[in-house]
Amino acid sequence: MKILILGSGGREHAMGKKLLEDNHSIQLYFYPGNGGTSIIGKNLENHNTALDLGFFAKKNAIDITIVGSEIFLLEGVVDIFQNFGLKIVGPHYSAAQLEGDRIFAKSFMKKYGIRTPKYEIFYCYEKALNFFLKKDMNSVAIKTNGIAAGKGVILVHDKNEAIKALKNIMIKKKFGKSGNQIIIEEFLQGKEVSIISIFNGKNIIPFLSAKDYKKIIENEKGLNTGGMGSIVPNPYMTDSIWIDFKKNILEPTLEGLLMEKLTFFGFLYFGLMISHNKVYLLEYNTRIGDPEAQTLFPLMKSNFLKIIQSSFIHKKISIDWKKLCSCCVVLSSKGYPEKYEIGKIITGLNFLKEPFYIAGAKKEQKKWITSSGRVLNIVGIGNSFQEARKNAYDQVQKIKFENMYFRKDIGL
Ligand code: GLY
Repeated sequence: MKILILGSGGREHAMGKKLLEDNHSIQLYFYPGNGGTSIIGKNLENHNTALDLGFFAKKNAIDITIVGSEIFLLEGVVDIFQNFGLKIVGPHYSAAQLEGDRIFAKSFMKKYGIRTPKYEIFYCYEKALNFFLKKDMNSVAIKTNGIAAGKGVILVHDKNEAIKALKNIMIKKKFGKSGNQIIIEEFLQGKEVSIISIFNGKNIIPFLSAKDYKKIIENEKGLNTGGMGSIVPNPYMTDSIWIDFKKNILEPTLEGLLMEKLTFFGFLYFGLMISHNKVYLLEYNTRIGDPEAQTLFPLMKSNFLKIIQSSFIHKKISIDWKKLCSCCVVLSSKGYPEKYEIGKIITGLNFLKEPFYIAGAKKEQKKWITSSGRVLNIVGIGNSFQEARKNAYDQVQKIKFENMYFRKDIGL
């Protein structure tokens, strides 16, 4: 069996390692992949468009393609592959707008009574400015309509900050045309949770809950990143919050997807906020999270390929998990998520115990060197968070590269 995975991060390396662990005879292909994926499979080159990838998959009889990164989804890769008669895991272009178009997602939530923070939509700067000038304001999140490479969200706490952010987004176009329309959303204090699920076109089957550490500095300070660490399960996702999530978010989402004919075979990620004992949906992603994947796959007992194959034929899916905790620490290049240097030699990789994943590193003349902002994902597993965390950070000590940076509070 030949499987193609689209993406280039630790998530794709984790997915590949899990598939191989459960099914020794599969052949893996990645596009574009990274230094880690090149060891467990073949990285494809020179496939600049989703159409090129479709031709490759058809010609080389790829059995299943799994989309890791949203970039491919928003290029319509699923529609293209399906037109070629190829099997692909991910939402078609219209359903991917649940991630790619925040106004579409909010309207969907409103229509189906899915609990989400209050919001207003603005299509022009003057009206948005007026919104802030005419009233006393509480903290709000200003969000660009498009996803802006994960960066189009600015939290503001007073009028001056709000006006500055509006100017940056709508006048100076700091996030490009993704800021032509904005959402101003009530800011909720609370605990964030990531719930990743698989949707088989009929049912949504949630994975274990996860917690993502989004900010670059300890205690959630500084700039937003793609994720500096994660833990599974999320300690704030209690039984009563699960019940609240299913009733007020998961079930109405399923109803909406079926009613709007947005059915697909793929992953649906619920970005949640627990505030005052109620769970709110902040956003959907239509893929697995990174670095959540790196903490989830090591705890998955079930065969991941069988789960995917079952979802293609609408077969009932149940997923078994190890009753353990996992903790992933992301090692990054100092300066990330802004400017950083690459090409630094990494030592210690040979001494690492599994699980660990390459996010942005490659092998050149027998040496590992950094090639991106997020470089390595080190995962610790244990019976408690304390043990998982200790195992992760003990491993981190083995790795060295110039300007290495990581958060010290993952799992605390
Ligand atoms: N960790 C959040 C994301 O993958 O978007």
